[in-house]
Amino acid sequence: MAVDSFAGKLAVVTGGGSGMGRELARQLAAQGCSVAACDLNADAVAETAAMARAAAVPEVRVTSHACDVSDEAQVLRFRDELLDVHASDHVDLVFSNAGIGGGESFITSRREVWERTFAIDWQGVYYCARVFLPLLIASGDGVLVNTSSVNGLWASLGPGVPNSAYSTAKFAVRGFSEALVEDLRVNAPQVRVAVVLPGHVGTDIIANSLRARGLPEPEQMSDAQVEELIPRDVQAKLIGAGLLAEDASAGDLRQMLAQANADFRDKAPLSAAEAATIILDGVRSGAWRILVGEDAKMIDAAVRAKPEAAYDYAELFSALAEEPAKGTPDR
Ligand SMILES: NC(=O)c1ccc[n+]([C@@H]2O[C@H](COP(=O)([O-])OP(=O)(O)OC[C@H]3O[C@@H](n4cnc5c(N)ncnc54)[C@H](O)[C@@H]3O)[C@@H](O)[C@H]2O)c1
Repeated sequence: MAVDSFAGKLAVVTGGGSGMGRELARQLAAQGCSVAACDLNADAVAETAAMARAAAVPEVRVTSHACDVSDEAQVLRFRDELLDVHASDHVDLVFSNAGIGGGESFITSRREVWERTFAIDWQGVYYCARVFLPLLIASGDGVLVNTSSVNGLWASLGPGVPNSAYSTAKFAVRGFSEALVEDLRVNAPQVRVAVVLPGHVGTDIIANSLRARGLPEPEQMSDAQVEELIPRDVQAKLIGAGLLAEDASAGDLRQMLAQANADFRDKAPLSAAEAATIILDGVRSGAWRILVGEDAKMIDAAVRAKPEAAYDYAELFSALAEEPAKGTPDR
């Protein structure tokens, strides 16, 4: 079921205050689609709505809503608000995009941090599906687009970098979405599902994830907050790797966090706008599985080719390591 055009449709975008969610809202509106965008950060999503309206034709309505997707009551309120302001009894597209990182270790991360990440990244997608599926069915031609991650294919960020809560949630999002493929075919064929699997996309997700946990910007963190985020054992590893001075102060750690966010955003192979275009092209083409970025395609292929070697990194990426050598001239 390809979509010819998004014009005249109504889309819900969660996490619309930043990154891919903001760009999805802007691009949908520019293509004639009305948008109801929500975010934890009400000011940021209001800014998105203003940007999206500025680039849209007058018939397009873009609204912003404050909503924590991990709280079902707030998702229900968001639904009621948007149906009211858009004067609609259905929605055509739902982009369940909101997400945060955190809870890297099941062993050492604080339990509430692990559970907050899981609640947003999995429960948020689950509640949005519960709340919006009847409205997608009512559309007669609906698409549910759930954002997972390469960490929904591969539960690690590489050697020495566990990513427990996030990967657990993103595997759940992928499993849920894949299970819906047949369920929808059988029980609601007027709706289809697509699962989005991005690799590294340049966004402010590091800073936004800290904010979603109630922490201030890195520069404003107390010594205790920054020491908890980068605990002694991690500091020791960073010192060992030459990434941190032995006598690093809390100020140096604050600076390191701010730099990590800036580098994640500015040194990514894909921008949020490019990623949103890939997602929308995928939805338009009728794809149920949308890999975003060459890194995502590479990880998908590597894990499929050698599932037993998924966490034996040298073996998993051995084919990749050989690739550049092929093009290296003999000395
Ligand atoms: N950036 C990447 O490299 C990358 C890679 C793979 C997957 N993803 C996924 O893509 C999605 C978008 O990420 P992004 O990189 O654009 O991040 P981002 O931080 O730029 O945007 C995410 C938005 O979601 C909002 N949000 C967080 N918790 C929320 C909640 N409980 N309720 C409502 N809104 C909430 C944030 O405030 C933020 O505005 C996320 O699900 C993320 O896990 C990102």
